[in-house]
Amino acid sequence: MSCLGHAFSPSDMDARQPKATEDSSTKQGDVAVDAELAKAIMSRRFHPSAISPETWEGYIFSDVEIRIKESTDLYGAVLWPSAMVLGHFLETNQDKFNLAHKNVIELGAGTGLVTIVSSLLGAKVTSTDLPDVLGNLQYNVTCNTKGRCKYIPVVTELIWGQNVAEHFPCATHHFDYILAADVVYAHPYLNELMDTFDYLCQDGTQILWAMRFRLDPENSFVDRFQQHFHLEELYDLPSLSIKLYRAWRKDKRTKDHKEAAA
Ligand SMILES: C[S@@+](CC[C@H](N)C(=O)[O-])C[C@H]1O[C@@H](n2cnc3c(N)ncnc32)[C@H](O)[C@@H]1O
Repeated sequence: MSCLGHAFSPSDMDARQPKATEDSSTKQGDVAVDAELAKAIMSRRFHPSAISPETWEGYIFSDVEIRIKESTDLYGAVLWPSAMVLGHFLETNQDKFNLAHKNVIELGAGTGLVTIVSSLLGAKVTSTDLPDVLGNLQYNVTCNTKGRCKYIPVVTELIWGQNVAEHFPCATHHFDYILAADVVYAHPYLNELMDTFDYLCQDGTQILWAMRFRLDPENSFVDRFQQHFHLEELYDLPSLSIKLYRAWRKDKRTKDHKEAAA
């Protein structure tokens, strides 16, 4: 059962298409749920009412105003809708996914919305991205969490597949949640991203991953991902071409695996 209250098959990667066996009332119900949820998510964004020298976009999460500064030249300098989807899910599902005092890492944090929302919800967050993105990410995270959060989020470099075990040794780093929004697209590091999920996802770790579907390689990434991880679909939002997944590893990590990785 999905968190939307209707069942999805995790293995059905084209669940956005109506199925031949579905009756029309189910289809209409799905469309209505998608429209209502997408509207609720997108309505969290607002624009500054007065012209100011600082350019920012506003978001309301956890009853506070979050101001996100974007720049224009990099993927990570723009806030993508998947981040709003994941932020919305985290805020509205605290009964099932309570982040308070949990160790959380975000991959490809970009402008930082998910990190900020998770920190406001009480998590100890490690917010990661490529070096070029960290300045703007740190700025947004600091401005929006200072004095508002129990734990100060840590912003740090994590390049997928590069020295991850060295920077995040298993012996000292165990994450309850790995968060990721829109990290799978036409970039050449999909194998490295998979390896990073695989390394960081230990016994007891849950991955919450908002996935924007654009092209075929993204579908095949999900297929490959399912070889290593159990996958549950939490949201299906065809109007945004986004699905939200929960995942956890299939196999128990062996001692050898842990030592090799550390
Ligand atoms: C489409 S953006 C999504 C940003 C943010 N999560 C959001 O939804 O607004 C993809 C993010 O992945 C990061 N990224 C891309 N390749 C990466 C790599 N090899 N290692 C680490 N981060 C990477 C980018 O810098 C960017 O922040």
